Amino acid sequence: MASSDNIHEGGGHEGGHDVAAAAESRWAWIVGAIIAFLVAMMGYMSLHWASMPPVRTETIDPATLHLAGEFVEPNLGSTTEPDGSVTVRVVANQYSFTPACVLVPADTPIHIRATAADVVHGFSVSHSNVNMMLVPGYISNFETKFSQPGDHVMPCHEYCGTGHAAMWAHVKIIPKDEFMRQAQSQQQAGRRMSCVQQG
Ligand code: CUA
Repeated sequence: MASSDNIHEGGGHEGGHDVAAAAESRWAWIVGAIIAFLVAMMGYMSLHWASMPPVRTETIDPATLHLAGEFVEPNLGSTTEPDGSVTVRVVANQYSFTPACVLVPADTPIHIRATAADVVHGFSVSHSNVNMMLVPGYISNFETKFSQPGDHVMPCHEYCGTGHAAMWAHVKIIPKDEFMRQAQSQQQAGRRMSCVQQG
């Protein structure tokens, strides 16, 4: 080996031994430091995560969803909040989402609140990080932001019955100023926003 030849040429057998011992102890320190770092990171993460509040679980009675409360039909769709964000409420059932076309502004914090009326459905939006499960009895929350206007598809990605493959909705992202203009007139009329074709 080239390195041992060099050691022999440099300082004879004794010198080579010292160089090897020094390299070994140097590596022992480096490996020890890596292990110490990983252990410290594990300790920090477990303490830090354990100090977090538990995931907020919100329940809702799927049998009375449509009769009263947050998920009655006139309250589904998008609405602006005082802090400038937009809340979108969606209900999934076999085999559609309501609203079937979700309208949201670009470059705005979006809070999706959704639930299922019958069985477990999937909720995902193409070309985005939106991906969650809708479970009857629970409200699922997702916070996101769409940077560009555009059209996305929103398929159900959890097998929910014979009509699963046909269970789709659309998401339409429009420029923020246009959305806010529409929001003013819609909300004055007491309506939620969506891109479902009216009448
Ligand atoms: Cu709903 Cu698959």
